[in-house]
Amino acid sequence: MIQYVLQTEDVAIHYGGVKAVDGVDLTLAKGQIRGLIGPNGAGKSTVIDAITGRRRLTRGRVTLLGEDVSALGVVARRARGLSRSFQRTSIFAQMPVFKQVELASHQMGASDSYADAQAVLQELDLWDMRETVAQDLGYGEQRRLDLALALVGHPSVLLLDEPMAGLSVKESLDLAGHLKKLTDTWDVSVLLVEHDMDVVFGISDVVTVFELGRVIADGSPAEVRANPRVREAYLGSAA
Ligand SMILES: Nc1ncnc2c1ncn2[C@@H]1O[C@H](COP(=O)(O)OP(=O)(O)O)[C@@H](O)[C@H]1O
Ligand SMILES: [Mg+2]
Repeated sequence: MIQYVLQTEDVAIHYGGVKAVDGVDLTLAKGQIRGLIGPNGAGKSTVIDAITGRRRLTRGRVTLLGEDVSALGVVARRARGLSRSFQRTSIFAQMPVFKQVELASHQMGASDSYADAQAVLQELDLWDMRETVAQDLGYGEQRRLDLALALVGHPSVLLLDEPMAGLSVKESLDLAGHLKKLTDTWDVSVLLVEHDMDVVFGISDVVTVFELGRVIADGSPAEVRANPRVREAYLGSAA
């Protein structure tokens, strides 16, 4: 039986002398949201690159749905159910919403890209905007379109790097609600890198704290909030 949908063991990425990520063990259980926080430069984005295959591992292992995928490239891992949110720039500004989600689904090799795109857009409350060209969407809707593109083909694991950046409080809460619902109804598991502490502590089942490429704390939101090292190193007076 597969215990975790995603697991990293002793994952390291070094850039010359810079140990961006240095021996990280992470797990993600089915349907779980794991928040990943830490100061700028802690290695959060690099660990996502390591998991997706965008960066070669200096050492360690990445296991997806029970399979060691460490030697596989980005496309092969995506085909096996590992997805990440696209940057805003990957939206085609001039193309209607439905058309680009269906195109992404088709490129993924979905057997019925129309049905796949429809399901994703309905789930994210974008169906009514399916004919709108992306550049005419509000910013919050554009971020939901990023998420929609990441969800085609029904991935098992979603890696999100600061998806709330630039959103208003209301838009952030809305996106957080969609993420929570996805984990419940789509069986998607999420690794969420996010600056907004209210969002992270509010929706994560477990939280990991990074500092200088290493995990300094890992536990429930309450445990992590109460951890003296975390309070000192990261949360500071805000805690
Ligand atoms: N391509 C790169 N070459 C050299 N150093 C890098 C590269 N990318 C990131 N780093 C360094 O790795 C560390 C971790 O960066 P990053 O993963 O972006 O942190 P975070 O996402 O937590 O802000 C930083 O010290 C950063 O300067
Ligand atoms: Mg980053």
